[in-house]
Amino acid sequence: MQAELPRVLSAGGLTPTIHELLANRVELLPWEAAQGAAADSVAGIFSYGHDPVDELLLARLSNLRVISNHGVGVDHIDVEAARRRGIPVGNTPAILDAAVADMAMALLLAAARRLAEGDRFARTSGATEFDPSALHGRDVHGATLGIVGLGNIGYQIARRARGFDMRIVYHNRNRREAVERELAAEYLSLDDLLATADFLVLICPLSDSTRGLIGRRELAQMKPTATLVNIARGGVVDTGALTAALQERSIYAAALDVTDPEPLPADHPLLALDNVTLTPHLGSATVETRRRMAELAVDNLLAGLAGEEMKCRVV
Ligand code: DGY
Repeated sequence: MQAELPRVLSAGGLTPTIHELLANRVELLPWEAAQGAAADSVAGIFSYGHDPVDELLLARLSNLRVISNHGVGVDHIDVEAARRRGIPVGNTPAILDAAVADMAMALLLAAARRLAEGDRFARTSGATEFDPSALHGRDVHGATLGIVGLGNIGYQIARRARGFDMRIVYHNRNRREAVERELAAEYLSLDDLLATADFLVLICPLSDSTRGLIGRRELAQMKPTATLVNIARGGVVDTGALTAALQERSIYAAALDVTDPEPLPADHPLLALDNVTLTPHLGSATVETRRRMAELAVDNLLAGLAGEEMKCRVV
């Protein structure tokens, strides 16, 4: 007879790879099971999308032993509540840094060179001949890249930007002097960064201190030729203020992998603007990176269920 498998709560939509990795090791329960009689039997949470793991949920799961997050950002998890209850929280840092940095550059280039607009136009009957006046964008080479959040992903973005002959300026909680030396990066206050950057890339975690970090006042300090790239979390930017800045063209463009709300409702004014490039939270979405994330998240989950140390633990 097969021993009972530990029960794990997870939102739907897991990839076949994850199902394969979890097969015969855990019994998956749907998210709604936390509301019913099965709540007491839940030993683990496999956090896949961004369903909130809050105090209320944790209070229902009296036998919870581990939370494993498939992803690096844990702003949807009440990490402090988990810590208070002695429940370890795992995540998947480092292995996705390069993929997210690639995506940041893809967004930056797409916005600068009006890639999405060009793609849309090339499919229309209006695209009959080469038009030298069509869709002029902005130079990336030689431009100044401002990075908000010079952690591991920010560093990877800076390295790539050097390959595009960009000047690097950054703002971070702490100065990164080794990176400054390696990449000739300059530390600036946020206000100076806003006024200096031709491309402002946001890659800081969402926390109480970064929520709404880029609002009306900050956008007003940016150059009219500047582009904002958000690959962090939608909540770092005040969406209303950004929409107004793009409508008034007080900044040049935005490229957003993340939004607040996410996804945007179909009638959101941002969707009507041609100076916005949007992707649906694809930062780490490559076959190879998502496979590594799946493996690490499952590894963390199984370690936590077995009472062993996880490879990557937030608390
Ligand atoms: C991450 O890894 O934080 C991604 O944004 C998915 O949550």
